[in-house]
Amino acid sequence: MTQKILRGRVLSFNDAPKAREDHECYTYIEDGALLIDGDTIVARGEFADVKAQATDGVAVVDHRPHIITAGFIDTHIHFPQMQVLGSYAGSLLEWLNTYTFVEEQRFGDQAHAKKIAGHFYDEIIRHGTTTAVAYCSVHPESVDAYFDEAMRRNMLMLGGKVMMDREAPKALTDTPQSSYDDSKTLIEKWHGKGRNHYAITPRFAITSTPEQLEMAGALANEHPDLHIQTHLSENKAEIEFTKSLYPERKDYFDIYEHYGLTGEKALFGHCIHLEDRERDAMIETGSVAVFCPTSNLFIGSGLFNWNRVAGPEGKGRIAIATDVGGGTNYSMLRTLDEGYKILNLQGQRMNPLTSIYQITLGNARALSLEDKIGTLDVGTDADIVVLNANATPAMQVRMETVTTLEEELFLLQTAGDDRTIVETYVAGEALKTGLN
Ligand code: GUN
Ligand code: ZN
Repeated sequence: MTQKILRGRVLSFNDAPKAREDHECYTYIEDGALLIDGDTIVARGEFADVKAQATDGVAVVDHRPHIITAGFIDTHIHFPQMQVLGSYAGSLLEWLNTYTFVEEQRFGDQAHAKKIAGHFYDEIIRHGTTTAVAYCSVHPESVDAYFDEAMRRNMLMLGGKVMMDREAPKALTDTPQSSYDDSKTLIEKWHGKGRNHYAITPRFAITSTPEQLEMAGALANEHPDLHIQTHLSENKAEIEFTKSLYPERKDYFDIYEHYGLTGEKALFGHCIHLEDRERDAMIETGSVAVFCPTSNLFIGSGLFNWNRVAGPEGKGRIAIATDVGGGTNYSMLRTLDEGYKILNLQGQRMNPLTSIYQITLGNARALSLEDKIGTLDVGTDADIVVLNANATPAMQVRMETVTTLEEELFLLQTAGDDRTIVETYVAGEALKTGLN
């Protein structure tokens, strides 16, 4: 295995910050370094100490004065919606029917799916994202394109075929049986291959008959190690329609509970308008609420209430994500910025340490993957980003008055984007350099 050293200001979280000035929750080494052997971080520390542990003549990539931290994790994104981003609609159901369900039909064409997969990975790498959890389209071809490209780049990616058998154009629907069979085949084909994780993906209760959710539950039961992803309580009209389709269920979340689609591996996009019982049941089952700020603002769905979803004891599990193409930017930094504004409007604030924790270790924990990704701990995968808080003229001027790490991180989240990402390392390889 070839070794390399990355030298710079090393920052890695050990835990969730307990306060704005919590300096115990992270490790920060001013003249720090990581020793990478193949695809793994094998040493972390002061540059001189790390250098002493490396093989003679090891290559040193000098990223000073930039920050080296864990690669960003996007916990909810739609790979077939790259060409939906920025579509003009007033609400969720209009947006889905007018643009999204039209565009996703193109992914039955393997060549199109392959082309967009290439763009998709280029774009997330450009923005510093090293792991994403994606919805593919209903077509198995889209899943093949998605995971095939993940393997080409050696990325740890999660995703799955959308299951949807009603309330969509005929060309975009499957059946309960075909969705089960196709998902099963795709699980066998892709899960555990390379760094791939298959996620069981019933789109949402509106586009699944009870029979299909039963099949999704059967898959979850047969594969308890797999993630599950779906949407929950995003928009008021969506909620009313959902309840009318499942009148026998207590509430929206109860639909998923009934079919065995909740738990610590289950990711629920949005969770904006949860009832108290739903919130309590989510906490009880360890289910994850996924906050999608740019999407919630763009589609006009509402303001995610972090403190409420976290619950009185803060036990609610929360992840953060772009939700492109309802979301408007691939950058997790832009996502944090919009998230901060949403929370601030409600008298809640996410402090800068918590923000960067959230898109690294926080999201890794939400995916139960913190033993592999989300930190720069020794033994974990070498998925890393290098951040430059002086990336633009506006940032340079502001940096003249920045004196603390916390201030610098807050500037990165407030003004940063793809220009801020100097390099993205995936399994030890520099992948951003070289993209157009
Ligand atoms: N609900 C069901 N499908 C979708 C989707 O593609 N995007 C968003 N934002 N919400 C959904
Ligand atoms: Zn979504």
